[in-house]
Amino acid sequence: MELTGKTIVITGASSGLGRGLALALSTRSNRLVVTARRGELLETLAAEIRANGSQALVRVNDATDSADCQRVVDETVTHFGPIDLAVLNVGGSPGVVMGETSVDTVLGLMRLNYDSLVNYLVPLIAVMRDRGGIIAHTSSPAGMFGLPKSGPYSAAKAAGRLLLDTCRIELAHTPLRFVSLYPGFTATEGLKTEEVPSPRLIISKDRAVKEMLWAIERERSHHIFPKRIAWPIRLGRMLPEPMRRWVLQRAVPAAPSRTR
Ligand SMILES: NC(=O)c1ccc[n+]([C@@H]2O[C@H](COP(=O)([O-])OP(=O)(O)OC[C@H]3O[C@@H](n4cnc5c(N)ncnc54)[C@H](OP(=O)(O)O)[C@@H]3O)[C@@H](O)[C@H]2O)c1
Repeated sequence: MELTGKTIVITGASSGLGRGLALALSTRSNRLVVTARRGELLETLAAEIRANGSQALVRVNDATDSADCQRVVDETVTHFGPIDLAVLNVGGSPGVVMGETSVDTVLGLMRLNYDSLVNYLVPLIAVMRDRGGIIAHTSSPAGMFGLPKSGPYSAAKAAGRLLLDTCRIELAHTPLRFVSLYPGFTATEGLKTEEVPSPRLIISKDRAVKEMLWAIERERSHHIFPKRIAWPIRLGRMLPEPMRRWVLQRAVPAAPSRTR
């Protein structure tokens, strides 16, 4: 897909990767719908988008509220017409250690990372399946297998990954395509740098945005980046689970137990 003159919805656009993507796409005469909860940040983003020559529609939205997401999809179609691309990008990952957390925290991360995807995915498929387009999801390498200190986040991103795998099969006969993006550690407002094993693993937001645009334009089903993250993840997925567990137990020190 050539990303010029298109109607594009970006969720989680008030900061980080979503904001970076919106700004990169704003120089190509697009119609951009930017959503998140922090309205003031979206308004300053919209001003930058318009200054760069694109149209902007701001929708303050809680992506964990299904009715509110349906409203945004409906209002986008009313305002701009058919949607060409949606980048479903809401998510986040505070480090959580199982055994040291609560039910509410674990389920809250599922709502933030999985419900926020589903709440847009279902209404978007309904309006995009006949005409086609691309639905992209900002997943994570953490969703490839269960990682220590990221269990609920890994589980939620894995659920989203599997759901899109099914979409690719069931909707293969339609012109709708699905792109799963797996950014490595990226310097955004959402990254907890203290949880990154080495600062050398962190890439810039601009680099991540370029990788995401590259994958969307080529309609890649899956894009893990950068390469120094992609290879260990691919290797890890090929290992039998007991061997992967052995490696990860040694790579990440065990959390201190409260009971000892
Ligand atoms: N940075 C990384 O290293 C990295 C690596 C892999 C994957 N990712 C994924 O990339 C995506 C973007 O993360 P980021 O690093 O750019 O972090 P970020 O700057 O914290 O961006 C998260 C965005 O999601 C929005 N958001 C959060 N909760 C929301 C809700 N309930 N309803 C609507 N919007 C909500 C936030 O806006 P408001 O607070 O204004 O609502 C913000 O715009 C996430 O899915 C994350 O899991 C990031």
